Formats: sequence, C-alpha cells, structure tokens
Amino acid sequence: MATDSLREALEAAGQAHVLEALDALPSEKAEALTKELRRLDLPTIGRLRALLLQGGVATPPAFSPPELFPLARTEAQELRAREATEAGRALLADGKVGFLLVAGGQGSRLGFDGPKGLYPVGPVTGAPLFSWHAARIHAARRRSGVRHPWFIMTSRTNDAATRRWFEDNDHLGLGADTVHFFVQSMLPALDTEGRMIFSAPGELFLAPNGHGGTLEALASSEMLERAASEGIEQLSYFQVDNPLVRPADPLFLGLHALEDAEMSSKVVAKRDADEKVGVLGLADGRLGCIEYSDLPADLRTQTDADGSLTYRAGNIATHVIRRDFIERLTSSGTLELPWHLARKRMKAVDLEGNVTEVDGVKFETFVFDALGETQRSVVLEVDRALEFSPVKNAEGSDSPATCREAMTSMFAGWLRDSGQPVPAAGVDGLPALEVDPRIAEDSSSFAASTCQAREVEGGTLYS
Ligand code: UD1
Repeated sequence: MATDSLREALEAAGQAHVLEALDALPSEKAEALTKELRRLDLPTIGRLRALLLQGGVATPPAFSPPELFPLARTEAQELRAREATEAGRALLADGKVGFLLVAGGQGSRLGFDGPKGLYPVGPVTGAPLFSWHAARIHAARRRSGVRHPWFIMTSRTNDAATRRWFEDNDHLGLGADTVHFFVQSMLPALDTEGRMIFSAPGELFLAPNGHGGTLEALASSEMLERAASEGIEQLSYFQVDNPLVRPADPLFLGLHALEDAEMSSKVVAKRDADEKVGVLGLADGRLGCIEYSDLPADLRTQTDADGSLTYRAGNIATHVIRRDFIERLTSSGTLELPWHLARKRMKAVDLEGNVTEVDGVKFETFVFDALGETQRSVVLEVDRALEFSPVKNAEGSDSPATCREAMTSMFAGWLRDSGQPVPAAGVDGLPALEVDPRIAEDSSSFAASTCQAREVEGGTLYS
C-alpha cells in the first residue's frame, strides 16, 4: 500500500512500526491511513522525535520583567493613553482591524462535549461564548460604522460543529461574508520512544498543534491574503474562553500602533505569587511568556519597592498582531516557534489491536513565543475585574461559577456607578442580571446608553 517514498519518509522519521501496522490492516483502513500519513509533515515528526529523545527543551536561564504600560498611570502616561485611544478609534473606523478568535482547543478540562464556544455563560440568558464575542463585534461595528471581518480558527475536532452552529444561527447577524473559518493542523502524539500512537486500529492519535499553529494556518488557508485584500493591518487576537475580553479596545490598538509594535499583549496583575498563570517577561533578553513552573520560587515572590510582585504580568492571551509581522514570520513556509511537550497518559491500541494505556507526548507551539521575534511590543496592564474571567475548569478557579460571579459583579458595579438600583441577590448570593454586550462594555458606556431593564426568565436583562 505504502509507496517507496512514503516508506522512506516513515523510516527516516523513526516511524517504521507504522509500516507494520499498515501491512496488518484490511485494505480500506490501510488506504485511509496511507492518506492520513501523506497529509502529515513527516520530517517535522522526525525532528519532534529527536527533540523528545534528547529530553525536551532546556529552561532559559535568566529572567527579567517586561516594561509595562501600567494601570496606575502617571500624568504623561494618561496623556499618552488619550492619544492612543484616538489612534485606536481611527484604526477601527478606517477598517484596518480584523478580529481573530482561537477556538481550536478541545476544552476537555471543562468536561463540555462540543466546541467550547457553545458553552453557556450569559448569567441570565445563558448566551454561549460565541454569541458573547459576536455581540462585542456588533458593538464595535456600530461604533465605527465598519463591517470588521472575524477570523475564527477551529481544529479538525470541532470545525464542522462550529460552522454548523454559526449557519444555524445566521452567523449571529454579522453576515456570513464577514465570518471566516480556518482550520489549524493536527500532529500525532508520540510514545516515550518517539513512535506514533494509534487511538484505534489504523487511526493515529492526533491532537491540535497548539495556538502557535494560528500563524501558519492563517498563511496556509489564505486568510492572510484575504485580510490584506480587505485592507486589514492589525489582527486583534483573543481566546474563546474569556467572555470579558474586549477585542475592539481602542486604547490597546492605539498604543500598539503608536509604538509601531509588531505584536502586543494585555496582562493583569497576578492575584498572588502562587497564582498559576504564565507571566510575560524576558528570558535571556527575549520577550515571551514564562510558565508558572519555569519561574524560580525566589523570582515568583520577589517584589518591587512599592510591594507589588516584580513578576506580576499575568498573561491573559489577548494580543494585537500586525498582519505584515505574521507574513514575515510565515513567508519561508517553515515557521519555527519552539515546541512545548505535554506528557499525558493516553488511551491507545497496540499493533495487535489491544486496547491499552501509554505514556504519550503531545507537541504544541504557543502564539506568545512569537513575541520573541518582535523589535517592538507593548505590554498593557488592564483591570482583571473588567477584562478577564475565563471558563477553563468545571469547578474551582476559572470555572463557570467564578465567571458568573465576575460578570455579575461587573454589571452591578455599572448599575451603582450610574445611580441605578441593583436587583436583589438570588439563592446563589448573586443578583441575577445581565447587560447585553451590544449596549455597553464599561461603566461609562453603560451610563451613556439608553438601555431598558426587562424582567425575563432567570433575572433582569438590560438591553
Ligand atoms: C493559556 C495560556 C496562559 C494564559 C491563559 C489565559 C497557554 C499555554 N497558556 O492557558 O499563559 O495565562 O491562557 O487564559 O496557552 N487553542 C487552539 N488550538 C490549540 C490549543 C489551544 O485554538 O491547539 C485555543 C483554545 O481554544 C483556547 C486558547 O487557545 O481558546 C487557550 O488554550 P488553553 O489550552 O485552554 O490554554 P490555557 O492552558 O488555559
């Protein structure tokens, strides 16, 4: 079944055992597996195997904190912020901004069956994450008078379900011609000897290649060309799991553009030294995200003169990325971001078809590693209470319960600021209320809006 060239490529990548599996399969399954193998980048798999057998990537030795555009600003920074907000508004109004959502992950930690974007988060309406993001894009379009495009990255595991949902929901009124889906690549998981694992007879264990795959997928799917042809200069990147994200923030867009930065990031102050988030920082002088586990304990707890953590710049995975920066990174066709290895027990089948469990390794690249390729980059500190409450875990931190609490507290704050009464707390101790994101995204836009409060099933809706 396998041609000589496929045999050679498999052998060169240290995957000769797959030939054995191919020989043992009935012809239909062997054909399907051969097709899958031809789609894989076998030389890269050979390199990943070598990386694994060498013992992974060494931890960079010297860390330092990044320069922040802080939340507590000096007068000069306040002036700069005003100037930047105007610049950001102009970028939006000139149609130079496209939105880029990464939604290819599997959301398995949440225990939700289906694309994570369908997870209900509206405290009253139960609106899913996708609707929430779409509403913010509606609001941005209304403010700027421009139909900004929305690029959505899926993966093979959730692409069909995601597209179907958008079609069934009329693309949330955004216009199908402005919502563009593209699919990231998958990579096979390897066992600790560097051999591809089978999840079922003739089926390779494949996993999405990490959100770093966004950059290559944007290029190979021709989304970058589309963005260029539509005059898009900046891509506002965000993750599916955070309903408080503000993808059309003029301050962030403007600071990034005025600095002529290639890729910029938003951060929130870590709650405490032990909060397990990655922090933005420099590793051997290169900007990137330092994983919690990579930051030595003494640096984790180190404080500045004012008592704040030196390494406090918690990564909320919100970026603005210049389109031509992605073009430059991807132009050679072989974007080389560092590989991260995730070791897990995996359900698999052996060559005889017996179900078993193996120690497996998944390989991912991370988009924030592209920060190391920038000449200029802005790191903007924002208020966690207003911009960051992701839904990641079924319970505990970053769960549906904490997200509901964060959303409700934020809305209640807006009501208080505008002198309106806050609905009484329900059984869970939280007032049941929701502000339609099309109406307002902060206290001042809420106060300036002419929204009406309506009692609906589940609470009070301001729309
Ligand atoms: C991520 C960041 C972490 C940050 C946190 C903020 C990593 C390794 N860490 O953590 O520094 O503090 O978010 O919320 O990313 N995705 C894809 N394709 C993939 C993998 C992920 O599209 O192959 C998307 C997911 O759909 C999701 C996002 O990327 O929207 C984040 O992925 P996830 O694996 O949940 O990252 P975290 O570990 O939560």
